[in-house]
Amino acid sequence: MPQAQSTAFYVTTPIYYVNDAPHIGHAYTTVVTDFIARWHRQRQEDVWFLTGTDEHGEKVLRSAEANGVDARTWADRLVETAWKPVLETIDASNDDFIRTTEQRHVERVKDFIQGLHDNGEIFEGTYEGAYCVACEEYKQPGDLIDGTGEYEGQQVCSIHGRPVEMLAEKNYFFRMSAYTDRLLAFYEENPDFIQPESARNEVVSFVKQGLQDLSISRSTFDWGVEVPWDSSHVIYVWIDALLNYVTAVGYGVDDDMFERIWPADIHFVGKDILRFHAVIWPAMLMAAGLPLPKKVFAHGWLLVGGEKMSKSKLTGIAPSDIIDTFGSDAFRYYFLRAIAFGHDGSFSWEDIAARYQAELANGLGNLASRVAAMVGKYFDGTLPAPGSPTDAENALAATAAKAAADADAAIDRVAPHEALAAVWTLVDAVNGYITEQQPWAVAKDESQRERLGTILYSSAEALRVLAVLLNAAMPKASARIWESLGAQEHLGPLAAQPVADAGIWGRLAPGARVTKGESLFPRLAE
Ligand code: MSP
Repeated sequence: MPQAQSTAFYVTTPIYYVNDAPHIGHAYTTVVTDFIARWHRQRQEDVWFLTGTDEHGEKVLRSAEANGVDARTWADRLVETAWKPVLETIDASNDDFIRTTEQRHVERVKDFIQGLHDNGEIFEGTYEGAYCVACEEYKQPGDLIDGTGEYEGQQVCSIHGRPVEMLAEKNYFFRMSAYTDRLLAFYEENPDFIQPESARNEVVSFVKQGLQDLSISRSTFDWGVEVPWDSSHVIYVWIDALLNYVTAVGYGVDDDMFERIWPADIHFVGKDILRFHAVIWPAMLMAAGLPLPKKVFAHGWLLVGGEKMSKSKLTGIAPSDIIDTFGSDAFRYYFLRAIAFGHDGSFSWEDIAARYQAELANGLGNLASRVAAMVGKYFDGTLPAPGSPTDAENALAATAAKAAADADAAIDRVAPHEALAAVWTLVDAVNGYITEQQPWAVAKDESQRERLGTILYSSAEALRVLAVLLNAAMPKASARIWESLGAQEHLGPLAAQPVADAGIWGRLAPGARVTKGESLFPRLAE
């Protein structure tokens, strides 16, 4: 397989179904992807971050029908009123948004499929099997379980708990069985392709059983991309959807862009859709002779009340339900910090409220306002020059350098929770430093002016490091810390501060205007 060397760092979210509005499970994937994208931008890499919507197929068609409108109208409505606005709500910095109903996508999907057909990768056959519309997938007998409650006595999908439908269709098939060995060899040569380890093991043992050919068309409805050589069929929604990752970056139309961006560095997905990304997608790319993505990272479920959160089970929570109270920074911080990435994690209001209070309001927010207030009170808002450092300042500088290096290394392991934990060692260290140094007591002794200046300069300097390291997770709060330190004038915009320089001590310029703004994380009303 050609291992192309694109120059850009390309990250993607799944493209989300427009059968319903986004909930915090979808927002979770997007926040993590956004965090990784922003961090890499701060490493001064050429980053491309893609998200979008998956609009074809029976699932979307049925929700449109249930709402009494045609599928196109429904998709337009959901994209404009829900899926695009939620990106603002959660402060996502995506470079593009692709909809599978756009011409730029539809035309290239046809080209891709025609190419596979021309190469003899596609044949005609009949498929009979149990289909789960919620998954948009044919199920194997092992994927089904006995239904309970209203579905007692029926076989149901193990993911959705809802009955499957028996379908028999004349379809076109992709010769996926021919890729079993090549995929296994690829996983072997690229041990980091599927992460975490548990996800990799699951996929490898699945593929080892031998792959079946894949039905890639449907003829019982027409909400999809037409099969180019047979207008009575539309392309299976998953084949259509997976191709978004290449159609959005110039595949078949803009070779320069395509070579710059493709292959993807990380496809972020929930574990529900791991096989599509780690088996079908690479097999499709192999068949077309295109480079494979470098990594597929499958994260766990967000659980609410112990169950996988979902709209259909009525545990769905909209991002704005949380953000209206806590703000987008706290929302982002919470999901990045509280969940060990790759594992399932529980959401609860008590937990987010507790972390907000302890870590954001009392930890970071209070620190930022205390430092600005003391520079205001003792030095009229002008950042003092530091005198000679003592062991305490040297230790603080060392903690800052280590926090920066550890956080950066955690990003390479795709471990946002560890990156933030590393940054928090500095938050705790500065708070401890201030408590020990007692600048309010030092201020009482006129002969200790220089010492007071050293303490406040060092505290402000630690805040500078924090602003740089927290910009990817909490862009709004970090921008306000930056502004409050008057850092822009000497150091330039926050987003342009390289992560690599974050831990270099002594970058703030004495004489800068330090101001105390509104509190970063205001106290919550009950
Ligand atoms: N349209 C497909 C993906 C096509 S990608 C080429 C799809 N869409 S979806 O709307 O169902 O979104 C699925 C993704 O949303 C999951 O893979 C996961 O990233 C995220 N999540 C949805 N519910 C979730 C939880 N309860 N918990 C965590 N993530 C969740 O599948």
